[in-house]
Amino acid sequence: MNTTILEKEDIQELLIKHSQPHLLEVWASLSEDSKDLLSDQIAALDFKLISELGELGKMMGSDDTASSILPPDTVTLDEVERKSDRVLSAISRGTIELAAGRVGMLLVAGGQATRLGCDGPKGDFPVGPVSGWSLFEIHARRILALNKRYGIRTPWYVMTSQANDQQTKNIFEANDNFGLPSEDVVFFTQKMLPALDLAGNVLLKDKSSLFLAPNGHGGSLEAFVSSGCLDDAKSRGVTTLSYFQVDNPLVRPADPLFIGLHCEAGAQMSSKVVQKSSADEKVGVLGLVNGKMGCIEYSDMSTELLNAVNDQGSLKFSAGNIAVHAISIDFIREITDGELRLPWHVAKKQISCLSPNGDQALVDGMKFETFVFDALGLANESITLEVDRAAEFAPVKNREGNDSPDTARAQLCALHGRWAIEAGLTLPAPEEGGVVAIEIDPLLAEDAESFRACLPRTPLETDDGQLYY
Ligand code: UTP
Repeated sequence: MNTTILEKEDIQELLIKHSQPHLLEVWASLSEDSKDLLSDQIAALDFKLISELGELGKMMGSDDTASSILPPDTVTLDEVERKSDRVLSAISRGTIELAAGRVGMLLVAGGQATRLGCDGPKGDFPVGPVSGWSLFEIHARRILALNKRYGIRTPWYVMTSQANDQQTKNIFEANDNFGLPSEDVVFFTQKMLPALDLAGNVLLKDKSSLFLAPNGHGGSLEAFVSSGCLDDAKSRGVTTLSYFQVDNPLVRPADPLFIGLHCEAGAQMSSKVVQKSSADEKVGVLGLVNGKMGCIEYSDMSTELLNAVNDQGSLKFSAGNIAVHAISIDFIREITDGELRLPWHVAKKQISCLSPNGDQALVDGMKFETFVFDALGLANESITLEVDRAAEFAPVKNREGNDSPDTARAQLCALHGRWAIEAGLTLPAPEEGGVVAIEIDPLLAEDAESFRACLPRTPLETDDGQLYY
């Protein structure tokens, strides 16, 4: 009995039933191995979801823009600098949570880094301006610093996707997990989804494979549970996850203030935000939509909302989302118990795939993702903390220009230069329009205060009266 023929008939039936028969057009020219590969992928498709996504994509653009939103109640930078009682109490609570090992790290690194256009995972991209350290290494050194500070072993959950999982694991292995114990670095993969053309047909990457793309960082919540990571975190005594993205080398995943505010409020999912730089900065803002916390995308805001000002004359909707969250483990368990239905976001773009005539071509298509910030609306309590953009947000998105490795490196140098000057060090004058190349190891210090504290108490003096250590 020829099982391939039987399988093919089953698959044919399946594809006809779900209006995707074009997938069989290439079949005749495939080798037996390729047929197996393709039929396995087809058998794994969720046709009900594909049909829903196809319809959603066709309707896209007909949504109303968000009209009734309120700014979130935010713990402002000003309050943090004033060190209010709430801030001081949160710092001590956060310190207790971190020192007790109740905070686990959740890094999402499953994206495709299309705009950066690097070979391999974005986390391997070198951004350390002096050290040349990769994004992964900078994050790892912050976790090492946390472990060292409190004598703990923090689990680091790293989400990859099928597309970069093996490469990511190879990089960690080749670097001895950047000094972290291998049992404490736990990889898990998110799901992949087929890309569709504008009529809802599943696209082929080549003759024997479907065009699959990661299902968005929102996929981290469900994958965290289905991979067994949530049970692992529980068994280690973790109650809160510090969630961050791979592409921000300034992220502070072990910030006692943020963790403390989240825990003291009994919050389920909290966020850090930065002030939008201008009304037309293309960043999502946090806000209350019908009383529920959410992130409103720039493209969903009317010009009026974008430019609205408050009583003080500053932007009303200015809480720019930087994708840094504290999430309680019990909350993840609760929202994934049953089907977690985060809204789908559709990206219409040109996709390089196998065209209907069998050539490789750019086809107008759609990719579908869920976003983690949409889970904010499911939380009963949520804290929003404003942080200093210059100190905590340097996204690496594009190859050049804004939000690129160069801007991130310059920001790191500027920040660390400031710490050095505040600590009394003298730096050479920067070249015109540039910054002094300086980088402080996260293992040494996490902010200006800890940097000052780690310098010897008495500086020495040069002949011309300059102080140095
Ligand atoms: P972005 O949306 O900026 O995507 O991801 P990206 O892959 O880094 O870059 P582009 O858009 O293709 O140019 C923000 C963060 O979310 C992660 C990314 O790895 C990054 O840390 N992410 C994104 C995932 O983990 N999975 C996804 O499906 C999408």
